[in-house]
Amino acid sequence: MRIDKFISNNSEYSRTQVRRLVKAGRVELNNEVVADASMKITGNNPLVSIHGQPLEAVGDVYYMLNKPKGYVCANSDGHYPTVIDLLADHHRSKGGRAPCDSGRLNALQVVGRLDVDTTGLVLLTNNGEWNHHMTSPKSNFFKCYQVSLNKAPTEATQKLFSEGLLLEGEKKKTKPAYLEFIATKKVRVSITEGKYHQVKRMFAAVGCRVRALHRESIGPIRLDAQLHPGEYRELYPCEVASVENSPLLTSEPL
Ligand code: URA
Repeated sequence: MRIDKFISNNSEYSRTQVRRLVKAGRVELNNEVVADASMKITGNNPLVSIHGQPLEAVGDVYYMLNKPKGYVCANSDGHYPTVIDLLADHHRSKGGRAPCDSGRLNALQVVGRLDVDTTGLVLLTNNGEWNHHMTSPKSNFFKCYQVSLNKAPTEATQKLFSEGLLLEGEKKKTKPAYLEFIATKKVRVSITEGKYHQVKRMFAAVGCRVRALHRESIGPIRLDAQLHPGEYRELYPCEVASVENSPLLTSEPL
């Protein structure tokens, strides 16, 4: 990992601030002054110091959040509050510190975005590789959503979903999706892709309107039923590992 990324992941400094610090000769790696912010860190226990103070590495962090409506999956937004704001606010309202300070919060990446009006499972991490593994089309992880509709879908809808649909503006059909009937106007849909507004567009293609959309799971990770909307928790190590150990192309809807 580049030293500027390492520092911004583990401190309140942004990448730009780190570059300035490097230019000013204030950053050391293993007791040597760092001359280039793009320098790669190797080895397991790098000793990085800023202004002579050793930096304590937080390492990789992973959270699951039960996203309520009205929040965007972004690090900052001019209009709506973000899921990152939610993490910080939730902790403060309980009289605690944010799960990590503002710099580390900014380093969090959203693993597969949800629309502002969609609720449910959002994963956040500062581990770019893990994020990539979760979201890469090659991983083929199913994302399962509960969907409330304006009218009841039929078995013909189920068949069309499993065969793939040509969505407006696309050249290729969607990959097979699975539809499970829960109630008259409520279904569970499982998809492996993450096209823009995909679930809403798939239902629009068969003449249905989505009234509410809630993500229940991504690959092997399911939203913790104990989390109320707006609450979050760290992933358990076994959840983090379940993703890394999941064989590619063999995941199934939960
Ligand atoms: N599909 C959508 O249409 N919206 C989401 O938020 C997620 C999947």
